[in-house]
Amino acid sequence: MERILVIGANGQIGSELVDALAEQHGAENVIAADIGPRSLAGARCYETIDVLDSKRLTTIVAAQGITQVYHLAALLSVTGEQDPLRAWTLNMNGLLNILEIARERKAAGKPLRVFWPSSIAVFGPHTPAVDTPQLTVMDPSTIYGISKLAGERLCEYYFSKYGVDVRSIRYPGIISYKSPPGGGTTDYAISIFHAACSGASYSCFLGPDSTLPMIYMPDALRATMELMAAPAEQIRVRSSYNVAGLSFSPRELAAAIQKQRPSFRIDYRPDHRQAIADSWPQSLDDAAARADWGWNPQVGLADLVEDMLLHVSKVTRLHSQAA
Ligand code: SER
Repeated sequence: MERILVIGANGQIGSELVDALAEQHGAENVIAADIGPRSLAGARCYETIDVLDSKRLTTIVAAQGITQVYHLAALLSVTGEQDPLRAWTLNMNGLLNILEIARERKAAGKPLRVFWPSSIAVFGPHTPAVDTPQLTVMDPSTIYGISKLAGERLCEYYFSKYGVDVRSIRYPGIISYKSPPGGGTTDYAISIFHAACSGASYSCFLGPDSTLPMIYMPDALRATMELMAAPAEQIRVRSSYNVAGLSFSPRELAAAIQKQRPSFRIDYRPDHRQAIADSWPQSLDDAAARADWGWNPQVGLADLVEDMLLHVSKVTRLHSQAA
């Protein structure tokens, strides 16, 4: 029986992962945790935790008999640029705290499996942008990307030096409707649906041809849980796996939305986020994830657009009824 702690449970991924894990492992075995009060997370148990407070983390992991940690708390690319020191401190020290606890637990014969998300932000302007390989040039230009690249090295270090069973995915931009996006460059691909469903036109902060790797939340959740469920000997990459969902540009996404909402209009006003997008890959080669633990994305652009429009419309209707 697994006992699971999800840190960052109120965030975009956490709020959906908690429900998915509760379904698989039983709600009583999933402890949701975040720095503030509980928001969306559906778990039966909730703890307020600052991931920088290693004493409290250690106490909770021991008291709850935790066997798996999903450590999702981080500042993303755009928010990180507003306060680089805070982003570095949260992103690095939070991860180090978890890895240290996992090292101590392993030494005490109580191993802890750790999931930590990396990102396409680990790549940079000199990385090959199309079908970006698993192993390649990495010269990130945001503090978020720099912290994720350093985090990847830490994960591999804790695995090879201490045998910590840490697993990671370089998430593409994640598209979802249940919770608001959290300060990322790929978030235009969520905001555009909210504009389309409220009948507004959308002013895109990236140019029309900024192709980026993306993934729909159900695929992202499945990737995360499949990676965590795979036998340890199959996990041959202990830094972080490239995982591809789909790739599209704002122009292509707008066209797919217009097929279903012909009156939808978009214009383009690239801002400071354009430089971040320009430094990231357009598509990823995820052959290692496919070979090692059987990754296979399922959701294509047309299905993603149909599902997002359906669900975001419902949310928009509820909000307008409540107003
Ligand atoms: N979605 C993230 C961002 O845009 C990338 O990992 O910051």
